[in-house]
Amino acid sequence: MFKDQKISYSGVQPSGNLTIGNYLGALKNFKDFARDYKCFYCVVDEHAITVRQVPADLRRRTYETLALYMACGLDPEKSTLYVQSHVREHAELAWVLDCFTMFGELSRMTQFKDKSAKHADNVNAGLFTYPVLMAADILLYQTDVVPVGIDQKQHVELTRDIAVRFNQLYPDTFTLPEPYIAKNVRKIMSLADPTKKMSKSDENVNAVVYILDDKDTIIRKFRRAVTDSDSEIRASEDKPGVSNLISIYGGFTGKSVEETEKEFAGLGYGEFKTAVGEACAAALAPVQQRFRDYMADKAQLEAQMKRGAEEASWYASRTLGKVRKKLGFVQL
Ligand code: TRP
Repeated sequence: MFKDQKISYSGVQPSGNLTIGNYLGALKNFKDFARDYKCFYCVVDEHAITVRQVPADLRRRTYETLALYMACGLDPEKSTLYVQSHVREHAELAWVLDCFTMFGELSRMTQFKDKSAKHADNVNAGLFTYPVLMAADILLYQTDVVPVGIDQKQHVELTRDIAVRFNQLYPDTFTLPEPYIAKNVRKIMSLADPTKKMSKSDENVNAVVYILDDKDTIIRKFRRAVTDSDSEIRASEDKPGVSNLISIYGGFTGKSVEETEKEFAGLGYGEFKTAVGEACAAALAPVQQRFRDYMADKAQLEAQMKRGAEEASWYASRTLGKVRKKLGFVQL
């Protein structure tokens, strides 16, 4: 319809507390994606309200998320960065797609099952139809690929099923999207329990390094990282703590496992951990500086949001116009 390039679409919940796992696994690689695709990155504030939010926090995190994305090198000249609630077509298409999504399908979503157990006092309809809003996000832009973590794959598959169903009734409406689960990205594990993924919601703050942690905090967290009883700096399955630190070091310095093992041969864990902390802090320093610069200029961030929303609307309104016509809604 409006495509001269393949389209990539991804959404992120407004949370400023992204970890070095998010950075090494996703954010750092966005730049490369932008070379091959027309990319959309959306701050999904409408998804966020499926669980209760403090308004001032939601607002601040929305700014922070946008600022952090730009600080990590996403170029708003090349990619469209915007906030979901600024583009009304998302909510509108979500309603339409609700009518093409089955109760049984939504009941099978594992994230719904997890979240409704976790928020048992607030199992609202929005939590249930969350994946339909996500389908609307994706389908509005005639998306080809959706880079997501493995936990979101089921939602992208549902999106595809909805699109197929809609296209069978109303041919050629939506492009069918594929999930894109990045291979060979390093999975970063918790510093306190290296058999568990590093998670931004971990209660133990020493288990997680955040992108916005200051240098002293970063070094202190790495120095406390769990390793194992021998003292050899070598990656292996029975040394998950050291292996994780080697991956993190490699992620920030570009060094291979072999190079790292050689570099630290004969040295102790203490020196190695400090070196990992230093490398991490050094790599994040410019990101943090850019983040602070962006956050210091709200007007500029808002101008950016506005521009992103205008760009996104251009695409979204085309798809929604087509949907409305096909459904038989009267055009005035
Ligand atoms: N559900 C995604 C998550 O929790 C966020 C999201 C919303 C998304 N809309 C999207 C991801 C569209 C990719 C495409 O991580």
